Amino acid sequence: MSFEGQVAIVTGAGGGLGREHALALARRGAKVLVNDLGGAVDGSGGSVSAAQAVVDEIKALGGEAMANGASVTDWVAVQAMVQQAVDAWGRVDILVNNAGILRDKSFAKMYMDDFRLVVEVHLMGAVHCCKAVWPHMQAQNYGRIVMTTSSSGLYGNFGQSNYGAAKMAQVGLMQTLAIEGAKYGIHVNALAPTAATRMTEGLMSAEVLAALQPEAVVPAMLVLAHASAPTRTILCAGAGSFEAAHITLTEGIHIGLGEQAPELLAEQLAQVCDRRNEQVPQSGSAQGTLEVGKALAARAPTV
Ligand code: NAI
Repeated sequence: MSFEGQVAIVTGAGGGLGREHALALARRGAKVLVNDLGGAVDGSGGSVSAAQAVVDEIKALGGEAMANGASVTDWVAVQAMVQQAVDAWGRVDILVNNAGILRDKSFAKMYMDDFRLVVEVHLMGAVHCCKAVWPHMQAQNYGRIVMTTSSSGLYGNFGQSNYGAAKMAQVGLMQTLAIEGAKYGIHVNALAPTAATRMTEGLMSAEVLAALQPEAVVPAMLVLAHASAPTRTILCAGAGSFEAAHITLTEGIHIGLGEQAPELLAEQLAQVCDRRNEQVPQSGSAQGTLEVGKALAARAPTV
């Protein structure tokens, strides 16, 4: 799987998963802009030296790379980061939105500032980077964007209301950008990794962490970033295992208007939630159309 001649931006690539992504893309021929704020796991502090160290590693392998120390929360700095890649290499083919922080606390104890900052880094950081590369990808009729979501967003995790909400928001962003990007050859996907990094140390046993090598996630990123990538796919990857997550819709029922609707709905909730015959609508409006279709079918005269 070659990335020869392509230009990639990987955010938060000074360590952990981002570093593996940047190295893998470079090994397969991509020119990589390595972004990292270089702060602590809670987002405090910062230095470009983390990104520069990965650039040095890539160059030592014979690859081409540049460092960037912007915070993805800084819209002006993100635009300058994308311009840095375009000025040097003429295009941006791949954006991997990987930068992230944690500020875990149970919701009862959560400070609003910690909630906001986590949303700012994960959601607005991804929005800034997507928005800055979008006109370039549209103009060249090609782009691959990989969001980094999380099982905490898809399925929830104690103490991660801020992180889970921000990670699931990236899936929502993916859904619409994939629809809007389709006619420009822009594919947008999401990766839900599990890996032993500074983010997960202390959260799992040593035995589990030993199985979760960050490089085991990389094949999923490469598949989502490649010319042959699907679009609107959520790939889970950890310890060399791979799954796809779907946001599905059950077949449901039709009740219609009427005073007894809530009582009837409560009675038939098990049938509404029955997962046999569930599907993945192609858009939000497609889901609305399905509902109207059921209503029209219920009203159609029977012969
Ligand atoms: P990590 O802490 O090693 O990597 C995150 C990187 O993002 C750090 O190098 C950090 O300096 C950088 N960063 C943080 N805020 C930034 C900002 N505002 N601008 C630019 N860079 C910034 O952790 P890890 O595990 O490698 O995480 C990578 C991504 O994968 C994150 O988005 C994380 O939420 C996600 N993830 C990781 C999982 C895991 O099991 N390790 C599970 C699910 C998701």
